[in-house]
Amino acid sequence: MKVLVIGSGGREHALAWALKQSARVTEVVCAPGNGGMAQIARLAPVVLSDLDSMVELAVREEPGMVVVGPELPLALGLVDVLRERGLRVFGPTQAAAMLETSKSFAKRFLQRYQIPTANYAVCTSAAEVEKALELFHAPMVVKADGLAAGKGVVICQTRRAALEAAQGLFSGELLGIDGERQVVIEEFLTGDEVSFLCLCDGLTALPLVAAQDHKRVGEGDTGPNTGGMGVYSTDTILDAETQEWVVRHIAEPTLRGMAAEGTPFTGVLYIGLMMTARGPQVLEFNARFGDPETQAILARLDSDLTEVLDAAIDGRLAETELRWKPGASACVIACSGGYPGSYETGKPILGLEAAAQVDGVVVFHSGTARRAGNLVTSGGRVLGVTAVSDDLRNALGRAYEAMDRIVFDGIYFRRDIGHKALRKEA
Ligand code: AMP
Ligand code: GLY
Repeated sequence: MKVLVIGSGGREHALAWALKQSARVTEVVCAPGNGGMAQIARLAPVVLSDLDSMVELAVREEPGMVVVGPELPLALGLVDVLRERGLRVFGPTQAAAMLETSKSFAKRFLQRYQIPTANYAVCTSAAEVEKALELFHAPMVVKADGLAAGKGVVICQTRRAALEAAQGLFSGELLGIDGERQVVIEEFLTGDEVSFLCLCDGLTALPLVAAQDHKRVGEGDTGPNTGGMGVYSTDTILDAETQEWVVRHIAEPTLRGMAAEGTPFTGVLYIGLMMTARGPQVLEFNARFGDPETQAILARLDSDLTEVLDAAIDGRLAETELRWKPGASACVIACSGGYPGSYETGKPILGLEAAAQVDGVVVFHSGTARRAGNLVTSGGRVLGVTAVSDDLRNALGRAYEAMDRIVFDGIYFRRDIGHKALRKEA
């Protein structure tokens, strides 16, 4: 079977890598792909913001399965169109992806089904924000309603700062994109964050191993938010009882609600959880695999991913069981100096072969490209150095040993991925 993976990041490299291990897969096509995917797959040019380019490619290639990685094609309705064309696609429809693409939709949905989440208000003007803020204590959280690549959330220490943030979102100044028509004001939650991803076939939620992301650029969780600087996965992030609770009180009611509203959810439901004193609460939904969570999660998967995604497409997840490597995994992101602000690209990358020789290590590429036969940096997040081992300390040790063999001009990575968990274990 030929498989088409849509996307160009580390998540898609990991997906292509895992799909390729299946005996049923004869060819992987990645569109548009990156320098790392070029080593294991054929690349085909598409523009992720141009629906027609992706539809044309998929129809021409006639793959046995299409896997859509990023949120933008989902928001554009790629899954809907490809299904109409008779293709087998893993991912949610445009309507189901609203759980990610509109925070106001997600918050109202959560409230409608009494799923635990922070108190909130949806506002359409600065005047409404001012009024709503009277009901919140500082700190409060101001969020863009639409997709903002992880940058649409501002934590504010005063009402004045919250009002200014909302104004910045309405005018578009804050994100440098079109102004938002709605913003969400939210109560600030404290606790540990957990990325809990479930494969969904519309009815059944099949949990993947939990992971913990590190969103801030600086060590000790300081500095601005990023797409994710590193992640680890162990069985101790969520004990079996808590996982069961989250499935019963969050994942399943979400699937039932979406089905009842005529927009059943298939694909990955990524539940961003805050483990608060009141119990697990939903911080956000994503309608896709996480990046870099997927790199760490798939490194631990022992089942055939192609079989599993097939089962999701066919509505057979209730009879599917996943097998995992015991122990732990970790993925440390190497990024271009300056990220998440401005940075230079085109820097030659060296040492990847030596890095891959470290036991248990695989290096997934995010922003890399091939130029004149050389591998060069082409984005903010460049590589996800991923390792598995029998425990977290060893997985991190392997990832950092491999990372120390990689060189490019301006390389930056956090040295403290997973350290909080190690301290807790000790
Ligand atoms: P989101 O895009 O909604 O996941 O928000 C991005 C990040 O902002 C989350 O991963 C949290 O670290 C933080 N965040 C979002 N909402 C809240 C909240 N209600 N309380 C505390 N932190 C939040
Ligand atoms: N790592 C966060 C995300 O994928 O949204």
